Amino acid sequence: MPLRTNEQIPLRSLVDEVVDANALNALQKRCQVAGRFTQSPVVTGDRALLTRVLDNVLRNAIEYSLIDGRIEVEVRQDGGEAVLAVRDYGTGVPDSMLASIFEPFFRVDESRESSTGGLGLGLAIVKRTVLLHGGSVTARNAGPGLLITVRLPIAASKDDTLSGHRRSDGLSQETNRVA
Ligand SMILES: Nc1ncnc2c1ncn2[C@@H]1O[C@H](COP(=O)(O)OP(=O)(O)OP(=O)(O)O)[C@@H](O)[C@H]1O
Ligand SMILES: [Mg+2]
Repeated sequence: MPLRTNEQIPLRSLVDEVVDANALNALQKRCQVAGRFTQSPVVTGDRALLTRVLDNVLRNAIEYSLIDGRIEVEVRQDGGEAVLAVRDYGTGVPDSMLASIFEPFFRVDESRESSTGGLGLGLAIVKRTVLLHGGSVTARNAGPGLLITVRLPIAASKDDTLSGHRRSDGLSQETNRVA
């Protein structure tokens, strides 16, 4: 299936948008969402679909976090790839089930259904969408919590156009939000 559009998408702006959209969810869970942007890679693709990718992953992170939890959303570059990583400090997933969470309708604990109410489709949509964009997605336990890492081919880097001044003092910055 081809992509409907091929937009240039700075990942940082996409992260800001999705974190803002989930501010109320995070607040209800008293969760702090921190963004860390060491680089500003730009990817190409369907912005609406890639927004759904991060939205599904961040919603899960909030959902499966404990009250007063912390969630870290990191954007960086690794060779020719843009990396978008979301780590929470919640329940994590049994190692034997890590591969299965990307299967449609798979849920680790059906008894959680009453509290979280999900269908088990979010990560299947994430995987399908990321593959459609020529990327990959993995999950691993970060002890505690889950780390979801999305890799996408890079279109360009905003760092390429930064002045020497910005480059020397602006490469690594952390913005903390209390959502
Ligand atoms: N951050 C996380 N921490 C712990 N478990 C997780 C996390 N993300 C996903 N899971 C587990 O993986 C399962 C599949 O996730 P997925 O997003 O596909 O479905 P869902 O959240 O249950 O429902 P939906 O996204 O369709 O509303 C979840 O039911 C949960 O058991
Ligand atoms: Mg989900």
